[in-house]
Amino acid sequence: MQRLKQKIENEGVVVSESVLKVDGFLNHQIDPIMMQEIGEEFTSRFANEGVTKIVTLESSGIAPAVMAGLSLGVPVVFARKSKSLTLTDHLYSADVYSFTKQESNQISVSTDYLSKDDIVLLIDDFLANGQAVLGMVSMLEQAGSALAGIGIVIEKGFQDGGAILRSRGIQVESLAIVDSLANGEVTFRDEKASSE
Ligand code: G4P
Repeated sequence: MQRLKQKIENEGVVVSESVLKVDGFLNHQIDPIMMQEIGEEFTSRFANEGVTKIVTLESSGIAPAVMAGLSLGVPVVFARKSKSLTLTDHLYSADVYSFTKQESNQISVSTDYLSKDDIVLLIDDFLANGQAVLGMVSMLEQAGSALAGIGIVIEKGFQDGGAILRSRGIQVESLAIVDSLANGEVTFRDEKASSE
């Protein structure tokens, strides 16, 4: 997605060889127009999959997921990372280990909002090692929901999440794949190679 790549080039900050900061439009301040285009792009890529629901993980997955939900006309469920006062039992849950943050979080979704009748599109802001997405896949399995595919705003192609998910035969659509952050520069994967 060309406009997203331009935005990353113009506003992204390379923090290290493995971390890209995009607080200006995705992880802190949100650019709603950009987010709307992202939602429409996910919709066009998964339009024929019969999606009934979108599932994401709080917090930064929510904005692109809601825009995709608006465009597809389906509800959006966000998995919670922390215990909620009102979300106490009847949960699907999974442990997610973050290599980036070196901490484990339990994520959960109420059994009220996922069922065996759902065909789910998973959306997240970043794909790094894939642990968050694998946790969400585990919750879909617990619910008996079908997985339509995975939509990612920014995939870090030099980490192994994308390869793990694609090797399972899952359709992963990443709107920008960053292959390197070396020398303070963002290098994107060749468009044709990533079939964008
Ligand atoms: P994984 O799920 O793919 O294994 O990712 P990992 O544990 O490495 O990432 C943990 C958190 O850090 C996730 O956000 C993820 O989106 C974010 N992250 C990973 N790499 C980058 C990066 O290069 N840049 C930015 N900006 N974020 C990155 P989170 O903890 O769920 O935070 P949030 O959704 O509340 O923002």
